[in-house]
Amino acid sequence: MIIVASSNGRIGMPAALNALQSGSVIDAVEAGIRLVEANPDDHTVGYNGYPNIVGDIELDASIMEGQSLMSGGVAAMKGYPYAISVARQIMEKLPHVLLAGEGAARFAREIGAESKDQMLTPEIVAFWRRKLEQHLPAEILATLDDQSALTEWVRLATDPERAYSTVNFIARDDQGNLCSGISTSGWAWKYPGRVGDSPIIGAGNYVDNRYGACACTGMGEMAIRASTAHSVVFYMKMGRSVKEAAIQAMHDLRDLGGPYIGVMNLIAMDKDGNHFGVTSMASRTYIMQTPGMNQPAELPRYFVEIPLRWETIN
Ligand code: GLY
Repeated sequence: MIIVASSNGRIGMPAALNALQSGSVIDAVEAGIRLVEANPDDHTVGYNGYPNIVGDIELDASIMEGQSLMSGGVAAMKGYPYAISVARQIMEKLPHVLLAGEGAARFAREIGAESKDQMLTPEIVAFWRRKLEQHLPAEILATLDDQSALTEWVRLATDPERAYSTVNFIARDDQGNLCSGISTSGWAWKYPGRVGDSPIIGAGNYVDNRYGACACTGMGEMAIRASTAHSVVFYMKMGRSVKEAAIQAMHDLRDLGGPYIGVMNLIAMDKDGNHFGVTSMASRTYIMQTPGMNQPAELPRYFVEIPLRWETIN
């Protein structure tokens, strides 16, 4: 039995490990991520995450299990902090994989998922306002929700530096069953309705018991374009080690064209439980724990340089 997670998953690791020992890999991933979603101090996941440009928080999440490749995801969901649990219920109750926006919230209501009227603390609302004041004229900020054209303001204000702490969990049991999950509030100050890689199976999240699993944090648009999580698993299927597969997928990201290239991190595990973490940032870590350990081990991620690019398109 083993669980690996992005380092902000530490708060959820004990619950995940308990759930893995008493339940399933799916229980473990859900239990771990729920505690990160509930953490008001993590502003990139769940409750009290950074809002979009008009001040609404929209959550993305997905869960996938590696025996059947069944999966569920929610995108741009408002009002329900435990996005991973809603994603799990989609996987288990619906013939669908992904629900977005109003439909995701409607399904969350239908299954009795816990809702919150106030998804943001006053401190985060004040922080959002202060940040936008740096980029937007006061009269625009005052009427942002009524603006028919948001593109210009999103380009000025969107903050890719505040997206990469999305949470990842991958769990493996002694029978070789794998499950991976991701949850995020996405880019700070994003365009309303923007969906990242986290709920997109194959982009931010992928698992297949026969080969392994991968989950991403970072600039979701890149992982969507390169199908990063699926690529890592596919490279393992083609015979590469988990380390080689993860590095190759980072090279694919480094080779992307276009004007917007940001940071990327991923964690991966092969079918035997060997794991590896990669980052395009300096000094990033991930965590792992097995039942014999008192606390998670914090491990360095291998660095692959991806030069940042942030150009203006007219
Ligand atoms: N990786 C999280 C996001 O881009 O939304």
